[in-house]
Amino acid sequence: MEKYILSLDQGTTSSRAILFNHDGKIVNSSQEELQQYFPQPGWVEHDAEEIWQSIQNVISNVLTKSNIKPEQLAGIGITNQRETTVIWDKKTGVPVYRALVWQSRQSSEICEDLKDSGYNSLFREKTGLLLDPYFSGTKVKWILDNVPGVRERAENGDLLFGTIDTWLIWKLTGGVVHVTDYSNASRTLLFNIYDLCWDDELLSLLTIPKSLLPEVRSSSEVYGRTDKNTFFGHAVPIAGAAGDQQAALFGQGCFESGMAKNTYGTGCFMLLNTGDKAVKVKEGLLTTIAWGINGKVHYALEGSIFVAGSAVQWLRDGLKLISEAKESEMYAEKIDSSEGVYVVPAFVGLGTPYWESNVKGAIFGLTRGTTKEHLIRATLESLAYQTKDVIKEMEHLACIPLKSLRVDGGAVQNNFLMQFQSDLLDVPVERPVINETTALGAAYLAGLAVGFWESQAEIEKKWVIDERFSPNMSNENRTELYSGWKKAIKATIAFQ
Ligand code: G3P
Repeated sequence: MEKYILSLDQGTTSSRAILFNHDGKIVNSSQEELQQYFPQPGWVEHDAEEIWQSIQNVISNVLTKSNIKPEQLAGIGITNQRETTVIWDKKTGVPVYRALVWQSRQSSEICEDLKDSGYNSLFREKTGLLLDPYFSGTKVKWILDNVPGVRERAENGDLLFGTIDTWLIWKLTGGVVHVTDYSNASRTLLFNIYDLCWDDELLSLLTIPKSLLPEVRSSSEVYGRTDKNTFFGHAVPIAGAAGDQQAALFGQGCFESGMAKNTYGTGCFMLLNTGDKAVKVKEGLLTTIAWGINGKVHYALEGSIFVAGSAVQWLRDGLKLISEAKESEMYAEKIDSSEGVYVVPAFVGLGTPYWESNVKGAIFGLTRGTTKEHLIRATLESLAYQTKDVIKEMEHLACIPLKSLRVDGGAVQNNFLMQFQSDLLDVPVERPVINETTALGAAYLAGLAVGFWESQAEIEKKWVIDERFSPNMSNENRTELYSGWKKAIKATIAFQ
């Protein structure tokens, strides 16, 4: 009986279940979109029960359509939108409030207060992050402070906190296992990435009871088994978990220090593996845990862009300029340039390297001749400009010049964007055959834990290039385009 690894990729806009075979190839997949709630400007929420329901649906769909039985699953790997915060009742399993999504800004006042009291460097020193509403810690505090009765219940030890990995593992095991992995813990603003433990001083500054927190485990080990009652009568090992960006780094085979990838999903996240050393930076980048495996923790430097693919969704759902995301390529290529139009998609503030949480988006350079093609092209270009901002910061702070860039995520199917990215960076951009590197990374982590794959060396050989985009733009043009972007960013930040 052939065996498979089931990878569950719970992202910001959808939940997916993907089956991988021993060759690391996709056998089948199922996807369900997720409802986004925007109760106030800058707030983004999900319904955690709906997330769980969608995961159950995609698991059942993928098994049915591929005619694979649960007993053929050697293990399950989980990867997830990071930082998104759920608090639920440990007896009933009912969430006390909607999940606060990583993009959500409702804890920005909490961050400002802590910054005003001079705590930014303390958080930076211990967690590698900074005081921005992006991370889970201040979201937990916001729920405890703002949802009636919740603080009391938390102090009585009746509630549990988790990022989405934790929530799903708890649900899959029938409410038995409350854990997270190092990579997800490192995004909470509560975890000391050097001592590898929840930090009492930070917890007390944020007034968060420790009893809420999950146990932190490696990214590749058996955490528990699926509850037979809810999982088709089978106890399948849940054997790997990592935040989606770290999973993508693993799935891209970036195992060595100095290797980097950029994922163009809802947001855009660039991670550079720094091996067993956490590189401390003072400014725009984040120091984070890549994964914990075989008793060792690996670190990465990260540049986080909050809006990438979601800007294309905005063209589709907000402005209704396109009816599906892939049309954006065709419109962008109808014109030779965006003719001075810049879209700065700062819909939920700006991340690396600016960290401006209250900034709003802006469009510059409009003339009477501006068409929808210009707006679409400028929106796509904004993904590449933001990536360039991140890379410049990485090269400047880590002193590592980029030689090429491995890419993945939905938007890398857009050839216009990939070519423009290569032109703007003046380095080759490499797209692998398996673009689902996030899900693949989680599958690898789980498969290694259950002996489905022998070693990372075996996995490394499976990375195969699909297309390499080489730079083809004059220096003059590149410099002029980028300096226009910098002006647009400056003006956007000034307009607050
Ligand atoms: O940190 C947020 C990130 O994990 C979200 O990823 O794939 O939903 O854009 P994605």
